[in-house]
Amino acid sequence: MKLNDELTNAIASVTEAAAIAAMPWIGKQNKNAADDAAVSAMRARLNSLNINGEIVIGEGEIDEAPMLYIGEQVGNGKGEKIEIAVDPIDGTRMVATGENNSLAILAAGFEGSFLQAPDMYMEKLIVGKQAAGVIDLNHCLEYNLDAIAQTLNKSLEQLTLAILDKPRHHDIINDLRSKGINVITLPDGDVLASLYATMPNNSIDVMYGIGGAPEGVISAAIAKALGGDMQARLITRDIAKGNTAENREFAVSEIARCHKMGTDVNIKLSLDTLVRNQDVMFAATAITAGDLLSGVNQQSQYLQTHSLVINGSTHSLRYIENYHLR
Ligand code: FBP
Repeated sequence: MKLNDELTNAIASVTEAAAIAAMPWIGKQNKNAADDAAVSAMRARLNSLNINGEIVIGEGEIDEAPMLYIGEQVGNGKGEKIEIAVDPIDGTRMVATGENNSLAILAAGFEGSFLQAPDMYMEKLIVGKQAAGVIDLNHCLEYNLDAIAQTLNKSLEQLTLAILDKPRHHDIINDLRSKGINVITLPDGDVLASLYATMPNNSIDVMYGIGGAPEGVISAAIAKALGGDMQARLITRDIAKGNTAENREFAVSEIARCHKMGTDVNIKLSLDTLVRNQDVMFAATAITAGDLLSGVNQQSQYLQTHSLVINGSTHSLRYIENYHLR
């Protein structure tokens, strides 16, 4: 079964709806209001589509409504069985503060496409097509960077790595910089880094670090669709956010939820485990202005959105500029 253009376009309109709904909250210092607006718009648009959809990985679980929760049925129930991985806003803080590079994103595929996992943290290592097949998370980062550099015919000093600028990564960042590796740090929004690592003419050789699992599965869809590579590990909160009693207690529930969903923490997940087939798509619409896409542009008679749609079925990547008349 293939994701045809009609279905891909319909699903891509979901991130447009989320971005338009989040736009009034740019710079308003209210992360929750921005997120709620994007979630409601995504849900409403998804429910208007001719799909029999299910959220398989998202931000929040059933007791955390109004999030698009894991297991939530979406669509009008009349079409194909579609699995959806969502992040209504990747970079909620950037919307609240009016910073660049916030995106509304999702990935979709047919039933059985995506890893089912709780909304927790994930260690991610992502490369583009030229370095596919050489990464192995069972080895240390240095080993992987050597392998990537060798395959790309570069020295370590010529390698560019993107990583979230979070306290948990500071030792790694310092160490890599001391080795001469060009490290680009992002305050938030690691899906953008995954795009940079996997898109044609990629500006980044490798994306590494611990971020959200929903963003991880969505990044895996990008890597799968574009022929790149990714390996990952689900990580408990005490490892990602600090070894406190509260985080250790939370980790116990994360492990239990992983087991219930048929997966586990701390084991290497290959790209094929994260995303099981090629017929997956990814859509992103910029909310605030960004390096890759312009943000939602408000004019008196229309709203202009800028999106990127990647289709693994057709191995294609499309930029869409849409005018939504008001
Ligand atoms: P949200 O806007 O959805 O919260 O995600 C922003 C983000 O930076 C993600 O891109 C990243 O995967 C995750 O947060 C990292 O989480 P944390 O900020 O808790 O370290």
